[in-house]
Amino acid sequence: MAEKSFYTLAVHAGEDLSQNHGSVSVPIYNASVYAFADADEGAAIHNHLKEGYFYGKLGNPTQNALEKAMCELENGESALSFASGMAAISTAVLSLVKSGDHIVVPNSMYSTTTLFFEELNEKFGVEISYVDATAAESYAAAVRSNTKVFWLESPSNPLLKITDFSAVSEIARKSNIVTIADNTFATPFNTRPLNAGIDLVVHSATKYLGGHSDLTAGLMVGKKEIVENARLKTTKLYGGNIAPQVAWLILRGIKTLGLRMERHNQNAYAVAHMLAAHPKIEAVYYPGLEAHQNHETAKLQMKGFGGMIAFDVGSAGAGKTLVNNVKVCTLATSLGGVETIIQHSASMTHAALSREQRLQAGVTDGLIRLSVGVEDSDDLIADLRDALDLI
Ligand SMILES: Cc1ncc(COP(=O)(O)O)c(C=O)c1O
Repeated sequence: MAEKSFYTLAVHAGEDLSQNHGSVSVPIYNASVYAFADADEGAAIHNHLKEGYFYGKLGNPTQNALEKAMCELENGESALSFASGMAAISTAVLSLVKSGDHIVVPNSMYSTTTLFFEELNEKFGVEISYVDATAAESYAAAVRSNTKVFWLESPSNPLLKITDFSAVSEIARKSNIVTIADNTFATPFNTRPLNAGIDLVVHSATKYLGGHSDLTAGLMVGKKEIVENARLKTTKLYGGNIAPQVAWLILRGIKTLGLRMERHNQNAYAVAHMLAAHPKIEAVYYPGLEAHQNHETAKLQMKGFGGMIAFDVGSAGAGKTLVNNVKVCTLATSLGGVETIIQHSASMTHAALSREQRLQAGVTDGLIRLSVGVEDSDDLIADLRDALDLI
């Protein structure tokens, strides 16, 4: 049979109708502990000699169905789900590095990931190099004898910078370096980093995978060896596991991921073009615009350009006026839901960084981040235009 389209995959991902009495929707397993038939079975399951569940923190059938679904969507060997995107990110890194190791990371990425790497450096002596991730050569130039991980985030939060997955993974392979890509913004609908040679993908499932602004979760998907080591060791020691109820919500969200992403792509494309032509806007960052610095790489690497846009209205005052006057867009800090969410980055997501760090990451005083939802794009454009008239 021909390879299935993403829409079909997404609807059926994780499904196993031979289980759970043929229940079409995977049930939520609310158990935190599982009984054994006898001591030998208990020993076999504890020692992973027999498949089975024994303790909720270490897995349950609802979580397992989600992980199976994510393997199918990202084309990965193994997946592991978490209580948040940061739990997935910290577990991925902590399971691969120790004090004295070196990691190469983008100089502009999700601010809490930046703070996490800083903490690793300050508290645990992990060396961190910050590079221009839009140029694959900058990863090559940063390699040291102790480099263990290349971190990638593409499109990046909030500036939508694009990193060439194939080029960076090729550089990494030469030096046995593990590549990890945060695929939160693109989702596997738009990009599959593992197909381009990346070893591990992480997600904040809080965003597009869940898709309805009603849960917090994270995922990792990729090479079996890395994921299973994280499952059996790091997650066991540090916790951070997903709740079965949340795993179920993501499974439900994933069924419409294709439909939602198609609409996010179309709406953001229309809004970005309106903004690019608007006289009050100083800069628009959207990989679907021909003027975007990485448009050519984005075209090769992405099926659609995603639902996220950043743009600069020139000053903090103008930014605040804009976000205070929109009526359809919601002023809030997250992204990836069905509703359009707008935020002023300097005073919200990037407020924890120093001004110097923030500017170094390209987050200027007037930067606005827009997570374009699935409403009608004409309504969104009219709302933004009306609010822009007031600045
Ligand atoms: C790109 C990216 N990665 C990771 C995270 C962290 O996810 P969570 O808030 O679920 O911990 C976020 C959150 O905004 C994000 O935007």
